Amino acid sequence: MVINHVLWLQLFTVIIYFPSFSNSDPEPIHDYCVADTKTPRDFFLNGVPCINPNQTMVSHFATSALSKPGDMNRFKFNVTLTDTNNLPGVNTLGLTMARIDIAVNGLVPPHSHPRASEVTMLLEGSLLVGFVDTSNRLHTQRLRPGDSFVFPKGLIHFLYNTHVKIPALAVSGLSSQNPGAQISSVAAFTSNPLIPDEVLTKGFKISGQDVVRIRSNLGG
Ligand SMILES: *[C@@H]1O[C@H](CO)[C@@H](O)[C@H](O)[C@H]1NC(C)=O
Ligand SMILES: *[C@@H]1O[C@H](CO)[C@@H](O)[C@H](O)[C@H]1NC(C)=O
Repeated sequence: MVINHVLWLQLFTVIIYFPSFSNSDPEPIHDYCVADTKTPRDFFLNGVPCINPNQTMVSHFATSALSKPGDMNRFKFNVTLTDTNNLPGVNTLGLTMARIDIAVNGLVPPHSHPRASEVTMLLEGSLLVGFVDTSNRLHTQRLRPGDSFVFPKGLIHFLYNTHVKIPALAVSGLSSQNPGAQISSVAAFTSNPLIPDEVLTKGFKISGQDVVRIRSNLGG
């Protein structure tokens, strides 16, 4: 049987490219790799070393880290995350869970996660959420309790509690054990060291005074 060249080429292309769009974090090669949170480390690798698998306990796979809200910040929200310290069993599994509390009129300002897509479910309150894709199109939706929304990896998104009385509570799953987060305004105006004023005045078409004011509003 003759398989034509185009088909081979397509198959080859799929094999070559499949990992790059199917994975988030690298695939685990053990059932689990419970993070060793005790031994001090002076070497760094992609993930966290594991303890002897014979020494795992069920408590490594459970956490109450998300049971209560953290302190609100200047934008009136708090995000609490699972990570390899509070949930060592999550190491290498490519997952993070987040608890998101947003006070009345609070905002999780436009931000992105460089290493994870995120799916959010609203449990209480009401939220206006949205993301902007790379063609600059906004996809936005008002969520009611029970509704979910997905933010594709790396795209800038926000969550805004428009409600005048009820704080919002949402949970998110993220497709990396270390999703990372960059708030656009905070990164632009309060980086360390600072981005030169000229870059900001030109980039945002604003004056030097605007830069000073925005920076101080953001606590920079
Ligand atoms: C785990 O326990 C088994 C059975 O006692 C033993 O054979 C094995 O060597 C242990 N593995 C490690 C990594 O200690
Ligand atoms: C959330 O609260 C915790 C504990 O109060 C705090 O350490 C953390 O910085 C807060 N995170 C955000 C994003 O506000």
